[in-house]
Amino acid sequence: MLETFALSLQRQDTTVVFLDCDLFSSQIVEDLRQIKGKFALFCDRNVANLIGYSWQFFLLQKGIAIEIFIFEAGEKNKNHKTKEQLENQLFTQGFGRDSCFIALGGGVTIDLIGFIAATYMRGVTLLCIPTTLLAMVDAAIGGKNAINTSYGKNLLGALYFPHKIYYDFQCLRHLPKKEWVNATAEMIKYAITLSYDVFLQLENGLDQENISKIMGLVKTCIHLKHQIVSCDFAEQIGTRSILNFGHTIGHALEKITDFQIAHGEAVAMGMLVESYMSWRMGFLSFTSFTKIQALIHSYAFPLAVYDFQKELYLEVIKKDKKVKNGVNHFVLLQEIGVVTPSTIPIPMEYIIEGLNWLELEYGKISY
Ligand SMILES: NC(=O)c1ccc[n+]([C@@H]2O[C@H](COP(=O)([O-])OP(=O)(O)OC[C@H]3O[C@@H](n4cnc5c(N)ncnc54)[C@H](O)[C@@H]3O)[C@@H](O)[C@H]2O)c1
Repeated sequence: MLETFALSLQRQDTTVVFLDCDLFSSQIVEDLRQIKGKFALFCDRNVANLIGYSWQFFLLQKGIAIEIFIFEAGEKNKNHKTKEQLENQLFTQGFGRDSCFIALGGGVTIDLIGFIAATYMRGVTLLCIPTTLLAMVDAAIGGKNAINTSYGKNLLGALYFPHKIYYDFQCLRHLPKKEWVNATAEMIKYAITLSYDVFLQLENGLDQENISKIMGLVKTCIHLKHQIVSCDFAEQIGTRSILNFGHTIGHALEKITDFQIAHGEAVAMGMLVESYMSWRMGFLSFTSFTKIQALIHSYAFPLAVYDFQKELYLEVIKKDKKVKNGVNHFVLLQEIGVVTPSTIPIPMEYIIEGLNWLELEYGKISY
């Protein structure tokens, strides 16, 4: 008789979050001193020039030597090539299993370095320092990381938690207006899927100078995301797909335009189309739909649809990770702050209708 038995492992992942931490303070220096092994600091060129080099110098003065690894900024570089180049540099410089990788930057850096940390020598210590508002409220939380491939966005990645996340809100003072707008897309996502209270706060606008309000919102978003992630860490029961609201449509828009539109802009368009589909499928009231539209509109996203071939777009969308038996599945809205308990199969004609509606409403631009 065939002998079967289970080999179970207790896996416990805990991330410690330091919410208001000055990067140039003794607190973080003391924290880093507790870590043995070599430090590798990763950032894109913009962040290196703004924060990375001066932080490296500050730490050196405090007796902590950190090698810095730079790559070109932008979604287009979240790919195999950059990953391999960085890995080769790490091998050449003798970074071993006991290394500590520090990802300093926006969501691209957090995703890319998270994936490298998960796979380099089967996993090394990872610390994250999100420097965009988008990375603070979303990318740094939840343990997902990824790179893009020519087949689509975020198709290769791992689930790997950072050991610590440091939030220094001073980093945001360098952030261009466009990146603030981008970040609000993910905040609006939390609001319309999980929290009417956040929706009301966002309706009142987001003042970049009001750091205490921003900190409060960031903290709320961290907790909202953690609640979802903690009950469906590996995306097995489906709850985690709530966090994908707006992303199926959005990711395909990013891919079809060769990442010429920013992630947040694409998600804003995606949320509009998926809200439209929620209304058209009879789940969401028209009043709530128009309130959502007004909120997204108020944040001044560029919403004109790029002039692409719909057939090509539909090819991309069919490669989405939530396709089951050839049909795209979406979490839909039932109310502001309330989603359907599971994903719903949506026939392609509703997706096309949603895209046509977006185009009619906001126009079309060529790229
Ligand atoms: N893993 C997840 O759960 C998750 C969640 C949401 C988004 N993401 C990913 O995050 C990425 C988008 O993140 P993003 O919008 O932060 O993009 P990004 O990392 O490309 O940053 C946007 C731009 O801001 C610059 N920048 C970063 N910090 C800055 C600062 N403090 N001051 C001035 N400029 C700064 C960067 O150099 C870049 O040019 C996408 O790849 C998306 O897929 C991942």
